[in-house]
Formats: sequence, C-alpha cells, structure tokens
Amino acid sequence: MKSTHSPIGIFDSGIGGLTVAAAIKKVLPHESFVYFGDTAHLPYGDKSPESIRHYAARIAAFLLDKKCKAIVIACNTASAHALKTVVDIAGPTIPVINVVDPVASYAASHYNDCKVGVIGTKGTIQSRIYVNRIERMNKSLKVLSNATPLLAPMIEEGFFNNSISQTVINSYLSKKSFSGIKALILGCTHYPLIKKEVESYYKKNVEIIDSASVVAQTVKQVLKEEKLLKQTSTAGKYSFYVSDYTASFEQSTKIFFREKIKLVEARIWD
Ligand code: DGL
Repeated sequence: MKSTHSPIGIFDSGIGGLTVAAAIKKVLPHESFVYFGDTAHLPYGDKSPESIRHYAARIAAFLLDKKCKAIVIACNTASAHALKTVVDIAGPTIPVINVVDPVASYAASHYNDCKVGVIGTKGTIQSRIYVNRIERMNKSLKVLSNATPLLAPMIEEGFFNNSISQTVINSYLSKKSFSGIKALILGCTHYPLIKKEVESYYKKNVEIIDSASVVAQTVKQVLKEEKLLKQTSTAGKYSFYVSDYTASFEQSTKIFFREKIKLVEARIWD
C-alpha cells in the first residue's frame, strides 16, 4: 500500500531524465524516489509509438511493484506516446505527471500573439504534441517545431559547452522557421545541459524553457493536492535502476544528476 512515505517513481529511456530527478530533489528534498532508465532500449526518439507504449507499460508496473505513490514520465518521447498507457496501469489513485503538459501550459500562459519554437527527438516532434497542446490552449500562438536528433547522443557522450556542441546547436537553431521566435522549448530531458549554449545562440533575447524545473514544481503541486507529500523532514532516499548496466552509463549519470550515483541493473525484460 502506498503512503505519504512511499517513493516517487521516475522513468526515462535512459539517464537524461536524471535532470528531472535532480530538479525534483531540489524542490522536494525530503521525498524519496525510485528512478528507472530503460537503457536496454534507448534511444526512444527513433522507436515506434507501439514499442514505446510496450516499454512504458512494463516500467510502470515495475515502479508500482516498488510501491511508488506517483509516477513521473521524465521523457518527452514517452510522454508523447505512452501517457494513457501509464495512466491506465497506474489506476485512479496514483497520479501520473508527464513532462509535456506542464511546459505546454507554461508557454500558453506566458506568451501571446507570437511564435514559440520547440526542439526534441524525432518521436516527440513527429507526434506534434507540443504544437497541438499549446495552439489549443492559446490560439494566438504559432508553434514551430524541429527535430534535433543529434543532440541527445551528443550530450550523453559529454559533448556540451564546447565548440563542437555549439556548432551542432547553431546549425539546428539557424533553421529559417525559427526566425522571430520569442521562446524556445527544450522538449527533451537531455537538453537542460545545453541550455546555456542555446541561450548564448539567442544572446538572451529568447526565453529558453526547459522542462526540469517546471515539472518539479508540478510534481510538488500534484502531491500537495493529492495529500501525498511526505509529512516528516528526514532526508529522501534514492534508488537508481537501469535495464542494461554499463560502467559508462554509470559514469555519465554524474553530468545529469550532478552527483555520483550507483546504478542497479533490473532485468525487467527477461
Ligand atoms: N530523454 C528523452 C526525451 O526526453 C530523449 C532521449 C531518447 O531518444 O531516448 O525525449
């Protein structure tokens, strides 16, 4: 049975969702969480919606086995394709928070009569989830989106804040359709790591919206509304699982979570 002491379940295709986990830890330092990275199947950005739904269903069941009191889909691609799947498995008493809706609401309520850009994986962009959500909430906005598939693997390999990453970023952002945008949504949980480079491309004239902090605030609000916030101020406990362990994943976690963590392999596909 879940209680206010139960952990929050967080999952992503791999380790990029740790940017969301780190933001949740900052906003809710007393909460515990269980993180699952589906490293056996990443990247999700190139997978079919059916495959992503299949993976998400199994991962949600794993997090429910761990008695999680809420589930955070810390992946835009899985949020785009598998939200209903996860909600159905979680059932009515376990809230499910995805990374698209909080950011889409933020953009729709902070901007009017202008263009907003979105970058993300092929899966996220092809789903048109940001375009549909934002333009439905605020008809005065025009949402322009471009897939930027090189960025997630580049960041995972540690290529950010250097001349190579800046060249790749500049080449994507110089697309004609993005000219005149007032805000740019980083629609992939890997991208908070390149936020500074994107800001410097736009010379701070465009607001760069990353999902991590907006989503962490949403998690806090949802737990409060559902009366699921932990009631004691003991420090949270964290566990990190991956479906395929490698030492290099473990090493890369530090760039996303900002502290060294130990990954445990959970072979949920065997
Ligand atoms: N972190 C995933 C997302 O937010 C992208 C990485 C992948 O393609 O698996 O969409």
